[in-house]
Amino acid sequence: MARKLMTYPAEILSTKAVPVENIDESIQELVQDMARIMYDNRGIGLAAPQVGEGLRVIIFDLSGPDKREGLMALVNPEIIHKEGQCDSEEGCLSVMGYKSMVKRAEKVRVRALDLEGKEVLLDADDLLATCLQHEIDHLDGILFIDHISRLKRKLYDKKVSKWIKNRKE
Ligand code: NI
Repeated sequence: MARKLMTYPAEILSTKAVPVENIDESIQELVQDMARIMYDNRGIGLAAPQVGEGLRVIIFDLSGPDKREGLMALVNPEIIHKEGQCDSEEGCLSVMGYKSMVKRAEKVRVRALDLEGKEVLLDADDLLATCLQHEIDHLDGILFIDHISRLKRKLYDKKVSKWIKNRKE
């Protein structure tokens, strides 16, 4: 079955993903599917749980959503250093119709594997730093709406329940 975008409150989005042990053809295929789904939905980053796979894989392309020139895939990414603090305005393809400011570290260092299984170290700031934190959060079952105030979250959850109810009727 073709993979598709999972949206909140799908359970996989709040489930911790497991590390990839073998970067084989199935992982290459997963990354291709993720890229297709990310570009189709005009996103700049996506994590495997968002397409229904509980594996520690993320992709991003900050040249997007109009260009498709900077696609990168990271396997088993880990934040090994954080510095500073900033406010970032975030949305998420899996969290429909919502944006909010989120507190993030200003700079991060990420260690991961590329699709050849080679270790990569990324020092990121600005949009790349917030994007990496957002996507790696997904791998731990955390959405950006888990970082907003309880009141804002309640209002959003109310909206979502209404959408789900309308869909059923
Ligand atoms: Ni997201």
